[in-house]
Formats: sequence, structure tokens, C-alpha cells
Amino acid sequence: MPNGSTPSSPIRVEDVDLTESELFRHGFAHDVFRLLRRGAPVHWHPMPEDASNEIDEGFWVISKYEDIQAINRDSELFSAFDGPALPVREEMRGTMIVSMDGREHDRLRKLISAGFTPRMVGRLEEQAREWARRIVDDALERGSCNFVHDVAYQLPMHMIADIMGIPVSDRKELFDLVKNMLESTDPANPIPEAEAMAMQVQMFQYAQALGKEKRAHPGEDVWTILSTAEIQQDDGESEALSEIELDLFFMILTIAGSETTRNAIALGMMALLDHPDQLETLRREPAAMRPAVEEIIRFASPVSYFARRATRDTEVRGVPIAAGQRVTLWYPSGNRDEDAFTDPDAFDIARDPNHHVAFGGGGRHFCLGANLARREIAILFEELLARASEIETTGPPVYSVQGIRNPVYVSLKELPVRMA
Ligand code: HEM
Repeated sequence: MPNGSTPSSPIRVEDVDLTESELFRHGFAHDVFRLLRRGAPVHWHPMPEDASNEIDEGFWVISKYEDIQAINRDSELFSAFDGPALPVREEMRGTMIVSMDGREHDRLRKLISAGFTPRMVGRLEEQAREWARRIVDDALERGSCNFVHDVAYQLPMHMIADIMGIPVSDRKELFDLVKNMLESTDPANPIPEAEAMAMQVQMFQYAQALGKEKRAHPGEDVWTILSTAEIQQDDGESEALSEIELDLFFMILTIAGSETTRNAIALGMMALLDHPDQLETLRREPAAMRPAVEEIIRFASPVSYFARRATRDTEVRGVPIAAGQRVTLWYPSGNRDEDAFTDPDAFDIARDPNHHVAFGGGGRHFCLGANLARREIAILFEELLARASEIETTGPPVYSVQGIRNPVYVSLKELPVRMA
């Protein structure tokens, strides 16, 4: 269960060290955040002593739903310029959609939104269903599989690749690279820094080659839009996106578009297997799917935190926050806030209302792929339940802990199942 029930969890707020990856070894550390919400909802986390995380400053930990939403919506007071991850990477400041403020962000967002409107997602509906049927049939043929890799991973990967215009023949190698890059920061399976860098370079080289191909042979896909776009600057001049901007955009889309939804589907499957009565309801009543998808997303909350920086002195819940300080918003904690949700630790596919913050708190950076992710999750479970009459786990789940350097922090890596 992603219930964060870690045997060695700290019991005092002052002992909480969120940079300690092992806290998340069994999923998001919900017990630690329950403690923070109750005892220190606006909590100053000192600079980690362990320099390996590359975090060179302390940060505020915001764990209550209401505060997460308010800070997320005030992008003038809480800037995204230094990026969503705690360690600030110089080359990423202000160069990615997630690390831009104001007009610059608006321009880029408008440009890319064309690929993600509900109408566009609707057009991809049949394609998604076709992929889902194929993926489920393949898994059924095998009988036993790792649900995370063999089912949950496949649909979001193919869908984001279809949207970006990545040829089918390139997908396995490219997305294996994405997966390996993400897993490379798990202290349980460390890989040398040079190897991690080489993977990033390989991905950027792929992005550049694909851009060249799209400029020569434009298609109706997001990578054509981005590789050929001219963005108007304040002085009226138009400029194409720079090479590094394109590289980072490619990385964001491949990671955000595949890893998060994969994790929602996998954790959703686990929650449904833990609640067979709700799984049965979902089989019997097609109308139950829409609220079930929201509950799966709330319960799974695949992004652990996003960071901002205060642009001037302010206060939250009466606690003073100084200009220049880093502030982290912990979405899975907001989604289990006792003041925002009735019985928040219960998985209830009929939950209504369900205004979760898994896609962000409704501010200007609200997840661009939310419509797509919702449809992918619904379609995958519809096709799965229509085809598989029996699904059971055959072993314990295994998590990959990317650590605090990555805002996703933890994701499910293995869920062995038998399906018939
Ligand atoms: C269940 C799946 C997903 C979850 C939980 C999720 C979560 C999030 C969160 C928490 C944010 C930050 C919001 C904020 O700062 O206010 C975000 C932003 C973003 N997401 Fe997602 N996401 C998911 C799926 C996707 C998919 C499928 C895509 C497709 C490309 C995507 C693309 C993006 C992009 C581009 C941004 C940055 C938007 C901006 O800065 O303006 N996400 N997502």
C-alpha cells in the first residue's frame, strides 16, 4: 500500500528529515506528513547535512491543502523561476515551462496547449483504446506479469509518443532511457554520475535529431509545433526556442507524460485489488469510472512536491516567510488533509466532491496533461476490466525511490500480478 507505513518513521517533528530517501521506501511517507499537518503545517526544514542531494539551503514544508492551493495560485508572490526540484540547476532557471513566470510562461503555455485541448485528447481516444486493448491482450496471453512495466507503463508511453510524433520503432529504446534516468538516483541502485550524464546527452541528441526531421517533414504533432515555433518577444521580434529550451522541453514531456500516469495506473490497480468490492462496482457500473479516476489520482498523487521561491516577505498561517526562501508544496499530503477530505486515508471510488491537488492547486502551472491523464486511466481500466475476469497479486510491490532531488520522489516499480 502507498500508505507510507515506514517502521522507522520519526515521531517528532524536529527529527523529520525529508531528504532521507528510506522514509519513502514503501511509498509516500503519509505518516510523517500526518504529523507535520498536525504539529507544524508550515515547517522550516533545515539545510540537509548530506551534500549528495545538492540542496544548499533550507526550505519550508507546506503540508495543508488550503495553504498548498493558496501558494500555488499566487505565482507573483511564489515564483517558479528556480524550477520545481529543490536543488536549483543553473541551466534550468527560467528555461522550462515549469520554471517560468508571467508573460514568458503564458507564451510557451499557449503554444503547447494546442496539443493538449480536450478536443485533441478526444481525437486520440480511439488510438488510446486500440493501444489499451493490445497491451491488456499481451499481458493476458502471458498470464503473469509485472503490472507496472507490462501494463501501466505502456499506454501513457505510447500516448505521449503519439502526441509528440515519436516513431513507434524508437519508443522502446527512448523510454527505457527515460526510466533508467529516473531510477538512476535511487540510492538502492546507484549508477555512476558519468553514466547518468551520458543518458541525458543521449536523450538530448535524440530530441535534436527528431526536431531536424520535423523541420524537414512537418507533421501534426507537438514536436513539430515546438521545433518550428517562433515566439514573439516583448520587443516584437520573433525567436525560435533555443536548443537547450527544446532539449529540456523534450525531457519534461517524456517524463511528465509517461511516469506520472504510469504511477497513477499502477497505484490505482493496487488500491482496487485491496478493495475488491470497489473493483466489482467498477466492473458492473460504467458510470462509476469517472469519479473512480479522480479518486485513483487523489489517492496515488504521483508527484510528491513542487518548489517555489518567495519573492517578498510574507506569512502563511501566521508563520513569517522571508523573501528569497524556498517553499515546497507537498501534494499527496494536501490530498490526505483531514480538514479538506472526509476520511482522507480511505480509498472510495464514489468520493464526491473530490477537489484534489494532484495536478497542482489550480494556479497557472496547472498540469497541462490532466485531461489526457484522466482519459488514459479511464480507458486502461475499462479495457482491462472488460477483458480480465481475474486479477490477483502474486508478490509484494517494490518501489523505486528517486529521492528528494526529483519532485516525483517515489514510484512503484514492480507489482507482480496474475491475470486471466
Ligand atoms: C496522473 C498523471 C499526472 C499527474 C499527477 C501530474 C501532476 C502534475 C503537477 C503536480 C504539475 C505541477 C502543477 C503546478 O505547479 O501547479 C504538473 C505540471 C505539468 N504536467 Fe502533469 N501530471 C500528470 C500527467 C501529465 C501528462 C500525461 C502530461 C503530458 C505531457 C503532463 C504534462 C505536464 C506539464 C507540461 C506540466 C507543466 C505545466 C506548466 O508549468 O505550465 N502531465 N503535472
